[in-house]
Order: sequence, then structure tokens, then C-alpha cells
Amino acid sequence: MGRQMAFLKAGFLQRFSNQKKEQEKKTENNKEIGLCMRYDIHSHILPGVDDGAKDLSMAAAMVRQAYAEGIRQIVATPHYTPGKQNPSVKTLRERLDMLQTAVSDEFADLEIYLGNEIFYSPSVIDDLDMGKIMMMPEGIAGMMDHTVLVEFAPGELYPIIYDAVKRLTLYGYIPILAHVERYREIEARNAYQELKEAGAQFQINTAGLKNGYQAQFTKTARKLIRDGWADYLGTDAHNLNLRRADTKETVEYISKTCSVPYRDRLLYGEVQAF
Ligand SMILES: [Fe+2]
Repeated sequence: MGRQMAFLKAGFLQRFSNQKKEQEKKTENNKEIGLCMRYDIHSHILPGVDDGAKDLSMAAAMVRQAYAEGIRQIVATPHYTPGKQNPSVKTLRERLDMLQTAVSDEFADLEIYLGNEIFYSPSVIDDLDMGKIMMMPEGIAGMMDHTVLVEFAPGELYPIIYDAVKRLTLYGYIPILAHVERYREIEARNAYQELKEAGAQFQINTAGLKNGYQAQFTKTARKLIRDGWADYLGTDAHNLNLRRADTKETVEYISKTCSVPYRDRLLYGEVQAF
């Protein structure tokens, strides 16, 4: 019994020591780059597949811009719109390879993954089940297996959004509502808690906190961060100008407003109780 206890204690101490080392490494990395957003789960950075990067040189320039902001993990999330001609998963993977190859020499510590931003309709569940749509990469920023990034028309009716969350969860998916600050019906009903309880997670656009594109959503986005509803940040970058990866104001607001564990959750994707 004594030996067993000693063995368990040694195992615990080893795990604790590994976790501590891992945490110290992350803290060192974060200190090196400074306080910044380390991951981006929403970006239209893949070349020539949607209304984002037009070609490979523009996509590479967008990567450079994101890297300069401190971002080290990007999930490329091209639009998927039911009933329209969407690039196949094979095409998306080819474009991802092309972009990774183009920037790998320049940025050894940058990782780019593949997802989709899905414009919700009930039919997308079949498309997901058939593998026609990309789910989000598991483990990045703490995302679980079967997580999907979903958007709606800005004026979509609340019962439709709620029904979408219920259906997606019923079929085993975890829906992240993209740029949740945009949906006026959710805000008008203050339905954030109800949606969370139904299984939704929320992504906030960093551009939503700036005076500029999406300035109309700044107040809501800030409130969602302040009240602790936000789960993930995304740049929703489409280009190098008005809709570029621009995170500084968001990072500043988060560092002033949030507790350290919540700040680390939002900026570094560190999943822990806070
Ligand atoms: Fe988007």
C-alpha cells in the first residue's frame, strides 16, 4: 500500500512538474512577443476560394500581417454557403498546402489549419455528416472535436438561431457562433445564457472593437467580453486594408478589463477554470 502511494505521488509530482514547465515555457514565449492574441480561429486567408485573399501573394501578405500582430496559429475558415458553388475540401486542402509551402521558410513557428465558416441552413448537417464541410481543428485554442464555426444573416430571427444550436448539438456538433456581436436579435433578448446552455460557444471579431469596420458592434463586443461570455477571438480578416487582422485595440481592452485567467483564455487559448 505504502509503495503504491509513493508510486502515485511520484506520478502526480511528475505530471505537476511537466505542467509547470509547459506553463513556464508558454509564459516565456508570451513575454518574448508581449501581450498579444496568439491564435486566430476565423480568417479568410486561403487564396482564391472566397471573398478573402485573392491570390497567393495576397494570402502570404495577410499571413505576414497576422504574424506581426503576434498570431502564431491561424485557422483558415473559407465561407461555406449552402446552395452555392463551394470549393471542395480537396481544393481547400490544396490551397492550404500551397500557402503553407509559401510561408514556411519565413515563419517556422507559424501554424495554419483548415476549417470553414458555415452559413447555417438545416441542410448543412447532412453536408457535415458527409464530410463536405470542414470542422474546426481539435485542440487549437482549446476547441473540442466536432466543433463547427457557424454564421447567420445579421438580422436572422432568434428562434432560427436557437433552433440551429439545438439541432447541431443534437447531431453531435459544437457550434461556435461567429462574430456573435452582430446578431441584434440575440442582443435584444439578452439570450447569451440561453444559447450557452443549449450548447453554443461564442467568437468575437477583433475588428468589432475598433472604430472602423464593424464599429457599430463595438459596444456589444465589449460588453460580451466584460461580462465573460466570449470564448474565442477571431480577426475575420478578408484583406490587407479595412478588413485586416488588427488586434491591438482588442488586446488592450482585454488586458484592462479581464481577469488574468480569462485574458489568457481569450488571448492564448488556455483552457482552465476562471
Ligand atoms: Fe468570416
